Amino acid sequence: TYVVTDACVKCKYTDCVDVCPVDCFREGPNFLVIDPDECIDCTLCVAECPVEAIYAEDDVPADQQAYIQINAELSRNPAWTPIVEKKDPLPDHDQWSTVKNKLPHLDR
Ligand code: SF4
Ligand code: F3S
Repeated sequence: TYVVTDACVKCKYTDCVDVCPVDCFREGPNFLVIDPDECIDCTLCVAECPVEAIYAEDDVPADQQAYIQINAELSRNPAWTPIVEKKDPLPDHDQWSTVKNKLPHLDR
């Protein structure tokens, strides 16, 4: 499966959702996740993300391993609903796009 990681937090550009053939992105307040039970490993979303937030599970950087479980957990949260069309990024995306270790800012 593919995994959305730290760079997405407080940015949420949503370019990724337009290309997913199985509509497996789920949306929260300031982050998206991929449902690991639905992703078919097509790789299409990876190149779409302007901040390179999406990795194959096996390639998730060592300091971002927590996001594997976070994608699995939040995709099962009924409040995190499917998103299938691109929309505007979050208002402060520019300021947050270069910030690291944004996990404390992830709203669930
Ligand atoms: Fe969707 Fe393909 Fe990305 Fe998986 S790898 S989330 S199937 S676009
Ligand atoms: Fe997030 Fe990148 Fe998609 S910032 S919403 S993973 S395009």
